[in-house]
Parts: sequence; structure tokens; C-alpha cells
Amino acid sequence: MTEQELLSVLKEHKQEHIYAAYQKLDEEGKKKLAGQVERIDWSIVDMAGYEELKQERGKLEPLSALEVPEIEKNKEKYSEIGIDAIKAGKVGAVLLAGGQGTRLGSDGPKGKYNIGITKDMFIFERLIRNLLDVTDKAGCFVPLYVMTSDKNHEETTAFFAEKKYFGYPEEFVKFFKQEMAPSVNFNGKLYMEEKDSLSLSPNGNGGWFYSMAVTGVLDDVKARGVEWLNIFAVDNVLQRIADPVFVGATLESGCVSGAKVVRKADPHEKVGVLCLEDGRPSIVEYYEMTDEIINSREPNGDLSYNFGVILNYLFRVDKLEQIMNEKMPVHVVEKKIPYITENGEYIKPEDPNGYKFELLVLDMIHLLDNCLSFEVVRDYEFAPIKNKTGVDSVESARALLQKNGVEL
Ligand code: UTP
Repeated sequence: MTEQELLSVLKEHKQEHIYAAYQKLDEEGKKKLAGQVERIDWSIVDMAGYEELKQERGKLEPLSALEVPEIEKNKEKYSEIGIDAIKAGKVGAVLLAGGQGTRLGSDGPKGKYNIGITKDMFIFERLIRNLLDVTDKAGCFVPLYVMTSDKNHEETTAFFAEKKYFGYPEEFVKFFKQEMAPSVNFNGKLYMEEKDSLSLSPNGNGGWFYSMAVTGVLDDVKARGVEWLNIFAVDNVLQRIADPVFVGATLESGCVSGAKVVRKADPHEKVGVLCLEDGRPSIVEYYEMTDEIINSREPNGDLSYNFGVILNYLFRVDKLEQIMNEKMPVHVVEKKIPYITENGEYIKPEDPNGYKFELLVLDMIHLLDNCLSFEVVRDYEFAPIKNKTGVDSVESARALLQKNGVEL
């Protein structure tokens, strides 16, 4: 991009302050900043004026889940199907660890957080142990793909190396970086985080498959013959990964995807609910539902929209390839964004001061024809660590781990 082109694109999008910063740089700095500007997806940045993307929802209908009693009845059969698929090398796992964990307030990768009490127990370690439970049973390893971002890649890979992959074979672990997106202030002006760099942050957890493709990691998936990917969040320390029962039930159902869900604690619990939207599977946030929908009940008294997602999904790889280039909604999220002022002063805000743009994995579900809603028991499989204390915190997760017999 020539200097003239840079100026004209920045003018067009009312971002002339970036050009002013550019002019103060040496050749190397200019190249770096111009390169970042060149990669900006302006269709996203220009959305900043709109408070939050109020997506128009289609016709919502309940989607029944495969519930625990039914799963228990068929557990052995599902488990066998799942183990066979794992043994045949058809199942891979994807750890989404590109987030910044701002609520937890730890600077490094969230997976490095030590949740131990009497001994070290890092989040990554706990997750690998959960996976080892399955691979021990199957008698073979599951390829594990770890998504990082520019913000934490080096630290994450170094930590895995330092800890000898927590006992998992290194040749079964591959790291890949997700894409980055710019952040803006409430008036839509791009923030800068260094004198030669825009403020860039990971573009949400919804771009993971695209990032696997552009980084070449998808070639490994294909070379190994992996047909299903189980994606999971870094912060649920209790979850089963590559769970044979879940894999078996999804395969048996004939669905192209599966989602682990938990029964809502109460009708107004703030979770995304798996249902049908215009006949296709969809995850609808609590704030997008009317009171009538939230309170609607089935003849047996259960809530019609009763199951919340926990960010543990199974996807068929060939279907992911088909939808990879489809447009996903971009979520405009208010965040605290550190930045430098025109005078080069570094500011770390106490309150949200602008927007970041994120793609969310839950939007992928709606692009697929069907999804098995698979119920798990909250107290056995859902202990997310979002905050330091209180709800979904280190404290609550520790209590749940101990309840499940994990020594900390
Ligand atoms: P969250 O939405 O809870 O975000 O991520 P977070 O970054 O961990 O925490 P906060 O909101 O800043 O406090 C859910 C999962 O998605 C991953 C996270 O690492 C976590 O596993 N994620 C999130 C990514 O991989 N990339 C992203 O850009 C965002």
C-alpha cells in the first residue's frame, strides 16, 4: 500500500489520526502500521456506531435434548461407538485458548493459572488430565490442536514445553494462532497500543476453523484422517474432552454436530440456549428471548427452552469446510482497551472505553443442518473459571473439582 493509498483509505473511514501517527514513524514503523491498516476488515470497524448487533431472530422452536436418563440407558453402546471412532483416529480435539481472560485479571494465558491449593494444578494441566482419562481408556492418543493468539502464543507454547506437555505426547499437540481484529473507541476511532501499532485483539472464538485452515493446521487434521473435532473452552476445568459417550451418541444420531448442554438452573439463567430457529439449530442468548418464550413449558412441566450450552461441541470436519467461508455475524462488545494517546501516554482504563469485534463459535451451529443436544450434569462437567471470586470463579471451580474427587 502506497502512502497515498493509506491516506485515502484512512480518510474514507474517518481515521486520519492514524495517518498523523504514521507520519511520525521511521521507515520500519511505517511499514508495520501500514501493513496492519491494509489487513483491516472495514465492514466490521464501520459497525462500531451501532450499540450492539441486534440480530433479527427467526421463528424460535424448542429442540429436544438427549437427556441424562436416556444417555445412561445407552451409555455402554455410545461409549463403544465413541472409543471405536477414537481408535480409528477419527476424533481430534481443539482447545480454544486465544482469549485474554480479562475478567480473571491474569496477564498471561488463562491456562497458566494455578488453581492448586496444596500443590500446583494449572488449568492446562487439568484439561490434559481430563483428556488422558479418555486416551488411557482408548489405548491411543487424540490429536490436540491448541488455538492461541498473537497475545499469548509464545507464552503458551513455552509453558507446554516447560511442563513437558503435562504428560501428553508432543507429536499429538499442534498450536495455531487465531486472527486479530482492531478495537475502537465509542466514536468508532481506531485505538493504537504502541506508536507503530494499532490496538489489535483476538477476533473471538468463532474464527477457529478458518484459522486452522489459513495456518495450515487443517492439513494435519486431514493427513491424520480426523473426521470429527471436539472443540472446548480453556476455562471449564471439569469438562470431558473427546468424551466417547458424547462422540458415540452424536455418531449414532446421524447429526453433523453435537453440543453438550446443561439444564437451566432457573428460567432466567443467563446462558445461550440451544433451540431451533427457522427449522435449523441455533443458540439464542437469554436477552434475545421474550418472557413468553423463556417461561414456556412442555406438557410434562419442563421448560421448553431448557438447555444451555457450555462451549463443548463436536463438528464434522467435512461440514465445517463447507461453511468455512460463510459470513458469520460480528458481535460488537464493550471492553476495557489499553491504548496510547496522541502524546504517547499509555492508558489502562478502569472501565470499558470502546468496542472489540468478535466472531462467536455458537453462531457456527446455525450454519449447520442439525445438532444433537446432549445433556450433561452440571456438577460433574461444568466448572468454568471466568472470575477470581463469586460465580464461575476459581473458588467455585475448586469446590466442584473437589466434589468430583480431584485433589488440589
Ligand atoms: P470468553 O468469552 O470467556 O473470553 O472465552 P475470555 O477471553 O476467556 O475471558 P474474558 O471475557 O476476557 O474475561 C471463552 C473461550 O473462548 C476462547 C477463550 O480462550 C475461552 O476458551 N477465546 C475467546 C478464544 O480462543 N479467542 C478469543 O478471541 C476469545
